[in-house]
Amino acid sequence: MSNQAQAVNEALPRWYAGHHVFVAGGSSGINLAIAEAFAAGGARVFIISRSADRVERAVEGIGADGGDAAGCSADVRDAAAVERALQQAHSRFGDIDVLISGAAGNFVAPALGMSANGFKTVVDIDLLGTFNVIRTAHPYLRKPGAAVLNISAPQAFNPTRYQVHACAAKAGVDMITRVLAMEWGADGIRVNSLVPGPIGDTEGIQRLAPSEQALEQMEASVPLGRLGRKEEVANMALMLCSPLASYVTGSVLTVDGGSSLAGGRDFSDALAGG
Ligand code: HXC
Ligand code: NAP
Repeated sequence: MSNQAQAVNEALPRWYAGHHVFVAGGSSGINLAIAEAFAAGGARVFIISRSADRVERAVEGIGADGGDAAGCSADVRDAAAVERALQQAHSRFGDIDVLISGAAGNFVAPALGMSANGFKTVVDIDLLGTFNVIRTAHPYLRKPGAAVLNISAPQAFNPTRYQVHACAAKAGVDMITRVLAMEWGADGIRVNSLVPGPIGDTEGIQRLAPSEQALEQMEASVPLGRLGRKEEVANMALMLCSPLASYVTGSVLTVDGGSSLAGGRDFSDALAGG
């Protein structure tokens, strides 16, 4: 077990013991760190993403740390595939207590260098995918009591050059959060967005800051003076889905070292490099 997983395991009351946590896009990066943190807190975790191999590796990793995990391949753009995955998860772990929707795709390109299909691809993964996951999961969510968490991005509220697809998609994700918080409050379901800032050792940062120099500039622009750690996002996910946040719904919470306070970033370096 990693030091972080150990710390979570020891610090948290056993809120998540036996709880079912479903993580869409959970086979790598930030979402995998979230899945690992819930598993360390005693939850039974079901992971989906496109690559069966990556899902298998993630599940094996959690198992090796003593957690209880399962998963299958599913593309969030395909509502029928999401439904099949949810059925499998439900028959294995029962009603879903925590639903994380974090599948995403991104690349750096100016609008004029992007085809309609390029734009649609990111919107389909991030926005339609989030709708598919949440809408399809509703019958399987624990009522009352379930917590839904969408993984958004600063692009949702900071207009950012070369990110028109991600800006449009993630702004839509945060609107899904707010609208479904209103529609599903009566069911006792909370819906929130978590907005990571620049998080080190992730695919997202590799794409947006592909050089040492770009990374250093990014770090220097963060009020806390460094990139975030995946575990720091996971800690907020644990908090937001717990009874500590029982009156929090429809909120969009940043975990970004203050980096979005100064507005959108310039990803020209990534454009030149990519
Ligand atoms: C312009 C591009 C492009 C690029 C792809 N496309 N890359 N256009 N510039 N650099 C176009 C293609 O030409 C094609 O359009 C269309 O996008 C679809 O491409 P495919 O490769 O067929 O799509 P697919 O196989 O579905 O892959 C989706 C993907 C890919 C998004 C393009 O990169 C992917 O699978 N990404 C998942 C991992 C990822 O991106 N992780 C980072 C998430 S981080 P045409 O017209 O040619 O058919 C994140 C960070 C947020 O979201 C903020 C951080 C601060
Ligand atoms: P990542 O490792 O690439 O995570 C994305 C995950 O989504 C992968 O597990 C990927 O697995 C899955 N995925 C992609 N397309 C999918 C699809 N169509 N259907 C199902 N699963 C799909 O990237 P990350 O950087 O950790 O980002 C994770 C989340 O944090 C994203 O929502 C991202 O927007 C957000 N975020 C990241 C940062 C950052 O600094 N990294 C900042 C702000 C927000 P497969 O390839 O197997 O499908």
